[in-house]
Amino acid sequence: MRAVVMNRPGGVEVLQYIQLPDPAPGPGQVRVELAAAGVNFMDVGVRRGMLWKDQSGPATLGVEGAGIVAALGSGVHDFKIGQRVAWVYAPGSYAESAVMPAASLVSIPDGIDDLTAAAVMMQGLTASHFTTDFYPIQIGDVALVHAAAGGLGLLITQIVKARGGKVIGRVSSTQKAAAARDAGADHVIVDKEGDFADEVLRLTDGRGVDVVYDGSGPSTFEGSLKALRRSGTFCWYGPVLGGPGPLDIMSLPKSIKLGYAVFLDHIPTVDALRTKSGRLFDWILKGHLRVRIGAKYSLQDAAKAHSDMESRASTGKLLLIP
Ligand SMILES: NC(=O)c1ccc[n+]([C@@H]2O[C@H](COP(=O)([O-])OP(=O)(O)OC[C@H]3O[C@@H](n4cnc5c(N)ncnc54)[C@H](OP(=O)(O)O)[C@@H]3O)[C@@H](O)[C@H]2O)c1
Repeated sequence: MRAVVMNRPGGVEVLQYIQLPDPAPGPGQVRVELAAAGVNFMDVGVRRGMLWKDQSGPATLGVEGAGIVAALGSGVHDFKIGQRVAWVYAPGSYAESAVMPAASLVSIPDGIDDLTAAAVMMQGLTASHFTTDFYPIQIGDVALVHAAAGGLGLLITQIVKARGGKVIGRVSSTQKAAAARDAGADHVIVDKEGDFADEVLRLTDGRGVDVVYDGSGPSTFEGSLKALRRSGTFCWYGPVLGGPGPLDIMSLPKSIKLGYAVFLDHIPTVDALRTKSGRLFDWILKGHLRVRIGAKYSLQDAAKAHSDMESRASTGKLLLIP
């Protein structure tokens, strides 16, 4: 089988498309033939050597995808060969075939196609965590959503709207504004330099927003603080693009509540993974959530997908198709 591996951290040039032996599942594992692998910013972090630094030897990138169960290891009873499954946070997904723990898998219901399932696992569970757990949106809340045309931003926007909130989206270019509006954003601010806070305050009559969803790096941090109302909530989530550096807690203004939200805390058990992903699939089936696949690349073009994401050229979810 073919896979995209890296032997050392670096730029997109470290990604190699190579032939590897077909993997065999061990106890509790399943081998899956992939229909699609999701591209995530965390893959860029792994490639740059910022995350999962302790990996030794050639590593196959990618942690998300969907496909068909092709072989079962001993002790696996809850899946059968030929079943359609999806997963998140299981390494080795930029490949034609991957072995992963059965506990990472969820069954894909009828009515959800494989590409949609591959596209929604990481960003959908993350958006669900931020809007229903970390800060449960209430009717009338106003949220500032950064990178609102990205895969994650489009999903956060739709869930905020479905829960009765309003969305001010920030995007870096006018081309992206239409995608954010299409997802339901009430206002869209085009800004690349971190100069959005005054416009947010104007749009909220000086009050500020109830919650900020910000994974957009150091340049947005100060503006996001300024854009919040008193006792507002700052949902920070961007470890790859980076944070504000060491923070004096007494420098936080307006009794703001600030936290680093991590999607794994939404799905700490197999039951939670299957319940929360089942709820996502249900929202899609009922038409409450639309998953926008911004671009599909062949597996061997993983480097191009990374370049597009890093250069802020992408909208929606990026997928690799083996
Ligand atoms: N903590 C968690 O649990 C968790 C889970 C998933 C993702 N994340 C984080 O969420 C963010 C989005 O990741 P994603 O994988 O879901 O992709 P995504 O939503 O599709 O994000 C891509 C968007 O990020 C923005 N961006 C890209 N490069 C940038 C740069 N150099 N500076 C500022 N903004 C940049 C761009 O939006 P604009 O050009 O419009 O600004 C781009 O459209 C990342 O920071 C990722 O690490 C965190």
